[in-house]
Amino acid sequence: MTEPLPTTPSLRCDGQRALVTGASRGIGRAAALALAAAGAEVVMAARALPEMEATIAAARAAHGPAGGPADGPADGPGLRLSARALDVTDRAAVRALVEREGPFDFLLNNAGTNIREPFTAVQDESLDALLDLNLRAAFTVAQAVAAGMVAAGKGGSILHLSSVNGHVGGLNRSVYTATKHAIEGLTKAMAAELGPRGIRVNALSPGFVETPLTAGLLADEKFRAAHLRRTPLGRMMTVEDVMGAVVFFASPASAMISGASLLIDGGFCSV
Ligand SMILES: NC(=O)c1ccc[n+]([C@@H]2O[C@H](COP(=O)([O-])OP(=O)(O)OC[C@H]3O[C@@H](n4cnc5c(N)ncnc54)[C@H](OP(=O)(O)O)[C@@H]3O)[C@@H](O)[C@H]2O)c1
Repeated sequence: MTEPLPTTPSLRCDGQRALVTGASRGIGRAAALALAAAGAEVVMAARALPEMEATIAAARAAHGPAGGPADGPADGPGLRLSARALDVTDRAAVRALVEREGPFDFLLNNAGTNIREPFTAVQDESLDALLDLNLRAAFTVAQAVAAGMVAAGKGGSILHLSSVNGHVGGLNRSVYTATKHAIEGLTKAMAAELGPRGIRVNALSPGFVETPLTAGLLADEKFRAAHLRRTPLGRMMTVEDVMGAVVFFASPASAMISGASLLIDGGFCSV
């Protein structure tokens, strides 16, 4: 007797409601577009509302009308994207948005930044700002979304934006490295606790991606060349290199993956 043919799990996200924080530019913006193209209804959240509205307008021009206005429910054909002004360090605002807009099936917990300073010169203000945004806010957003998933009783997927600096150190980024290692730990603890509720929790760990965050650093030709010499695949990454992985973690194709961290670094951490 032959075994039954297996069915390839879907890489689509149809029927899902997704929240992407830090969606006004860079990785979050690209991820929101990728998720919408895969069929999800995406709520983009960041402080710069006009930038997200401009992205939605451009997406609609490229992909056809979507239905709802940029600041209202997306309910039509085409890419389903809407934008919400949100400062993720404002806990009350985070909880209110998730309460109002949730429950979500997928969270890309992406809002984050870096302030590059030598360890012995890190200013108190930088330490506080990075801990507030990269760790405390990421924790609160994940907690609020997970609580909504648990209450809805339908499971879900949470993907944290970590970094290669969640795995290795680096110069002039001690606080950033500490926050991303914390995100790696949070990923595992959340995966352990939320798995029995059908909620998967993973992390994405890119190396240098060309975004507004890294533009200044990557404009330094000497730094760029040194980084490329250490990167087996030999080129800088763009946001396109991250988009497919985001869709994968939202889709049924990753149904049994939880507590994992995916390096997207061109082999950088293998050297
Ligand atoms: N680029 C890289 O090489 C790289 C590599 C590894 C990991 N990462 C991680 O990927 C994530 C995104 O990085 P990126 O390069 O795309 O950065 P980016 O271009 O600077 O974009 C950061 C995003 O975060 C949002 N944000 C910042 N503070 C916020 C706040 N208080 N409330 C809400 N949103 C806020 C920004 O929106 P507003 O300013 O409009 O609020 C923006 O949309 C970060 O977590 C970063 O650590 C990046």
